[in-house]
Amino acid sequence: MDRAAELLFYVNGRKVIEKNVDPETMLLPYLRKKLRLTGTKYGCGTGGCGACTVMISRYNPTIKRISHHAANACLIPICSLYGAAVTTIEGIGSTKARIHPVQERIAKCHGTQCGFCTPGMVMSIYTLLRNHPEPSLEQLIDALGGNLCRCTGYRPIIDACKTFCKTSGCCQSRENGVCYLDQGINELPEFEEVNKISLKLFSEEEFLPLDPTQELIFPPELMIMAEKQPQRTRIFGGDRMTWISPTTLTALLEAKFKYPQAPVVMGNTSVGPEMKLKGVFHPVIISPDGIEELNFANCSHNELTLGAGLSLTQVQYILGEVIQNLPEEKTRMYCALLKHLTTLAGSQIRNMASLGGHIVSRHLDSDLNPLLAVGNCTLNLLSKKGKRQVPLNEEFLRRCPSADLKPEEILISVKILHSRKWEFVSGFRQAQRQQNALAVVNSGMRVFFGEGGDIIRELSISYGGVGPTTVCAKNSCRKLIGRPWNEEMLDAACRLVLDEVTLPGSAPGGRVEFKRTLIVSFLFKFYLEVSQILKRMGPVRSPGLADKCKSAFEDLHSRHHCSTLKYENVDSKKHPQDPIGQPIMHLSGIKHATGEAIYCDDMPTVDRELFLSFVTSSRAHAKIVSIDLSEALSLPGVVDIVTEEHLRGVNSFCILTEPEKLLRTEEVSCVGQLVCAVIAESEVQAKQAAKRVKVVYQDLQPLILTIEEAIQHNSFFETERKLEYGNVDEAFKVVDHILEGEIHIGGQEHFYMETQSMLVVPKGEDQEIDVYVSTQFPKYIQDIVASTLKLPANKVMCHVKRVGGAFGGKTYKTGIMAAITAFAANKHGRAVRCVLERGEDMLITGGRHPYLGKYKVRMINMYKEIDQTPYKQEINAKNLIQCWKECMDMSSYSLRKAAVEKFNSENYWKKKGLAVVPLKFPVGLGSVAAGQAAALVHIYLDGSVLVTHGGIEMGQGVHTKMIQVVSRELRLPMSSIHLRGTSTETVPNTNISGGSTVADLNGLAVKDACQTLLKRLEPIISKNPQGTWKDWAQAAFDESISLSATGYFRGYESNMSWETGEGHPFEYFVYGAACSEVEIDCLTGAHKNIRTDMVMDVGCSINPALDIGQIEGAFTQGVGLYTVEELHYSPQGVLYTRGPNQYKIPAICDMPTELHISLLPPSQSSNTLYSSKGLGESGIFLGCSVFFAIHDAVNAARQERGLFGPLKLNSPLTPEKIRMACEDKFTKMIPKDKPGSYVPWNVPI
Ligand SMILES: Cc1cc2nc3c(=O)[nH]c(=O)nc-3n(C[C@H](O)[C@H](O)[C@H](O)COP(=O)(O)OP(=O)(O)OC[C@H]3O[C@@H](n4cnc5c(N)ncnc54)[C@H](O)[C@@H]3O)c2cc1C
Ligand code: FES
Ligand code: FES
Repeated sequence: MDRAAELLFYVNGRKVIEKNVDPETMLLPYLRKKLRLTGTKYGCGTGGCGACTVMISRYNPTIKRISHHAANACLIPICSLYGAAVTTIEGIGSTKARIHPVQERIAKCHGTQCGFCTPGMVMSIYTLLRNHPEPSLEQLIDALGGNLCRCTGYRPIIDACKTFCKTSGCCQSRENGVCYLDQGINELPEFEEVNKISLKLFSEEEFLPLDPTQELIFPPELMIMAEKQPQRTRIFGGDRMTWISPTTLTALLEAKFKYPQAPVVMGNTSVGPEMKLKGVFHPVIISPDGIEELNFANCSHNELTLGAGLSLTQVQYILGEVIQNLPEEKTRMYCALLKHLTTLAGSQIRNMASLGGHIVSRHLDSDLNPLLAVGNCTLNLLSKKGKRQVPLNEEFLRRCPSADLKPEEILISVKILHSRKWEFVSGFRQAQRQQNALAVVNSGMRVFFGEGGDIIRELSISYGGVGPTTVCAKNSCRKLIGRPWNEEMLDAACRLVLDEVTLPGSAPGGRVEFKRTLIVSFLFKFYLEVSQILKRMGPVRSPGLADKCKSAFEDLHSRHHCSTLKYENVDSKKHPQDPIGQPIMHLSGIKHATGEAIYCDDMPTVDRELFLSFVTSSRAHAKIVSIDLSEALSLPGVVDIVTEEHLRGVNSFCILTEPEKLLRTEEVSCVGQLVCAVIAESEVQAKQAAKRVKVVYQDLQPLILTIEEAIQHNSFFETERKLEYGNVDEAFKVVDHILEGEIHIGGQEHFYMETQSMLVVPKGEDQEIDVYVSTQFPKYIQDIVASTLKLPANKVMCHVKRVGGAFGGKTYKTGIMAAITAFAANKHGRAVRCVLERGEDMLITGGRHPYLGKYKVRMINMYKEIDQTPYKQEINAKNLIQCWKECMDMSSYSLRKAAVEKFNSENYWKKKGLAVVPLKFPVGLGSVAAGQAAALVHIYLDGSVLVTHGGIEMGQGVHTKMIQVVSRELRLPMSSIHLRGTSTETVPNTNISGGSTVADLNGLAVKDACQTLLKRLEPIISKNPQGTWKDWAQAAFDESISLSATGYFRGYESNMSWETGEGHPFEYFVYGAACSEVEIDCLTGAHKNIRTDMVMDVGCSINPALDIGQIEGAFTQGVGLYTVEELHYSPQGVLYTRGPNQYKIPAICDMPTELHISLLPPSQSSNTLYSSKGLGESGIFLGCSVFFAIHDAVNAARQERGLFGPLKLNSPLTPEKIRMACEDKFTKMIPKDKPGSYVPWNVPI
């Protein structure tokens, strides 16, 4: 083997040569830190979010073709890139050169908010367009399936994508040959085309055309290298790991013989996360490169053989081709495999992961292995000693030594048999989310009948997700051979399978009863599917299927994405250049899309910078007995470990009313509390050392995890607050009906895409210190840092350029971490950076807490037009009533309700639900002081303006709105106004950016500053009314008039007395209504969001594009809160869900296929900023329209099954809860564990 001198690949057309490559380095940190290409973002590090998407291109000298695929840079070891060309967001366009049409369109279609996910989105679309310049909508949506966005709700991203499709104005679904948008959308009344009503937020005419000739070419040097260079094994040696890349089969076998324990890394999507999350370490890695014998497909008369090195995407493509070319009866296994491949992970993972890696990993939730196992597939193995074939059966899956690969063996290919005439194969899966989520349970099923008959000759059933690996129900199948395919067989099969495939109550992953139910539900689906085909094929005795049952095996209703937006156009009487009311793009939109927008961790390394990593508590309630730092301190690169001892006297800070400790060293009261902080020369060293800190705990009682336990132990945080309205007891005595119950709403992880990040830089003079941090609350950061360092606030400056999403999660915990980081920086006189990994972030920050509500109501209490809130604040609910009415009209509620009922009466196993909810969302901060805001506006002598204010840009577009305000006030084009960021240096003593009020309050302060300037300059302007701002600024300067002004808003009047239960705590209310329709699968618990109509009263929108973005983004987060997102904790209080692979936020598949949003015409003028309303949060609540629609559908199912009692469903309404509520013979059939007889895997918190 030759020791390669260097690693050579290209990045954005530039050659990269690495002489001392460390095989442990992944492409993402290499791009960000080494090449300073920070456009590619870190969101999770485990392949689950798509923020790090790049394009990898390779040249294949055999077929003389260049291939491009999207991949997750966080899972690509750089050693695997030899000879590849990497394209990052910086490589496709920039504001300095030329922006790429994808970048332009995603920005101009308002597809960016915080912008943190945007480079990944752009790269996914870009790569697709490189392969398919005119893609279909399905291809686009599929390409984005592995990219998460927490802000936008995806609709604007889809809109941007659609502009690349062949017929972009069309919905892409030409049912009956007519574009769906031309049909008057599902009874949706057409919007009147009145002048004032707008239906578009962007204009396609101005878009740059997509010109494939403008793209970066594949580096000719790499082609020549691939053609000419002798194929030699490359070896890269690092400090701890050696990377061997054989390029021929012989060399591969040789390497595997020499290092039998070394994994064969192909896509690294299994080995990579294992090393990162489970601490598995491999001193040697073998990674074959371009070995033809692993990358082929051969379809013969009876079988298809697929090379183990093919990526899952290649497998998808090959199966598609094979299915087209073979008669239907031969393709049943391929169809089942293909169906699973479309939902397996996201496209980036499918591009990277190999078939061999997938099979050999034998993950318990593998989607392909259950199918391959029932299909009698054979694995072709090879080693230096020779060839061997092993069946892919239960023994192989269980890793029985007799049936497994030998350590020196390589899987070369997989042989899959064509199905036969009377053979049927199906795959089933149910996951927490429809796409890009590991299955809770999946299954492969195959049956073979004798010619023309319905007698079972062969039967194979296997399941994933129900044991440590794929489980085969062999015995059950054997017992069913010879039986006819009928209901009695089904009944016996269910009982046998439940007997054989058992799950203990404490099984890892929890959801045990759900899993048991799925085991039989899938079997039933298979039974119906096969019965249906048998009936078609005509065996004499096969049972017919009632029409109502057919819905059991049909896919959930899925339409192509379609959306309409309606808002009132700007007043034509206005000044034509006035931007207020215009759908102006987020001013950072293009920079988000080019990767030029700088987030905290994108800031370049400061000279001698250190990295800080936290050690967190692993117990929920315990005394810390001892902390041993010695081993950690002895590791190379470790500079210090900050403990409570160092912070003596400054280790607590008053947050709200209670003082909170920064570091814990005596007692911990939850898992994830900060115990100490390791400071080292590099991130890797700090993290490695943090793992070596040994903390000994002694558990304490009680362990309180749930609200119910807290109530039981009388453990409360705050003083009790009570609101009473009228005489409740008397009222209940006289009413006919009382509805009483309780509802539990689970907690929610904020899941901002940018994890907590900070960089603290001591200035080295006068004890000044700069804190660059991703926070919503700079003043608080300044205060806590000043207190910890015992400095006056004027020495500590906090700067925030932008935040990659926050949603309330970047305030207090951020401050604590910033204070400790600042302490370390100050102590060592060196800059210190701290950036949390996703898992740490989820563990430390805690998220939104759960709720438990008990209620007792006596009537339907919709507000009347003039009414009072329970705390006696007068409200005018006219707009609420209008929203409700418009929503009912727009959604054609009555017509659709009837259609839903008809559907439900015709379908037993699928049900639809429809629900409308009204919204009254109070906006205000509870006190005048909490609402004060300030701004600073400078006019320079060239007529340009710099504005700054106290609000934080976290995606909501507040800076864009502020520039719109200055533009209106000073009548100055927006292009002459700039905003650099937020800092305690320019605007002191700011309030938190939150509560939907950031633009409201700061806008009034900005307006105030502008008006002060105008007043001051009025004499100058009136002397020269035709002049420009340059003329006026110069004249003012010449007359010694200040061109700088502060602006101030003292806060909305607000009061609330908890003693009397009366007050006026809110300035105004946002009103709205939403109607959602869903379809559920009663057998699996899956649901599909079919359509949502939303009407919102936003006052006079300052920027309808941003406001609609806020509404739909919040709505989608609400859909997540109420239906998908579920935190899991162990009985010891350890959070299991610590990343996108376990915790599911809505993905593109969760977007309603039809979405209609309408803003109420402005009607009430108020004393808010230009009569606008703050919209950040309100839409979240409307997400519960989906919850209630599911509730409605479940109710329909239950009523049909004779269950008429009240239905209590808690939030989130996940597939598990939906399935278990649709009680039927299968839910009754499963074994139930007695509570208390086992320790469950998780506790519902
Ligand atoms: C974010 C994410 C989402 C996912 N979602 C899903 C999902 O929805 N459904 C699902 O089923 N799976 C899912 N997976 C798992 C994924 O399918 C597997 O990780 C993947 O198929 C493994 O392939 P690989 O080439 O990356 O394997 P690698 O990580 O490269 O290797 C895995 C193992 O296979 C061995 N191996 C590889 N090739 C050979 C060979 N030719 N001969 C001998 N041994 C070999 C290696 O030694 C190693 O032990 C997901 C993974 C990620 C990261
Ligand atoms: S950071 Fe790579 S997928 Fe999330
Ligand atoms: S814009 Fe997508 S995560 Fe913020």
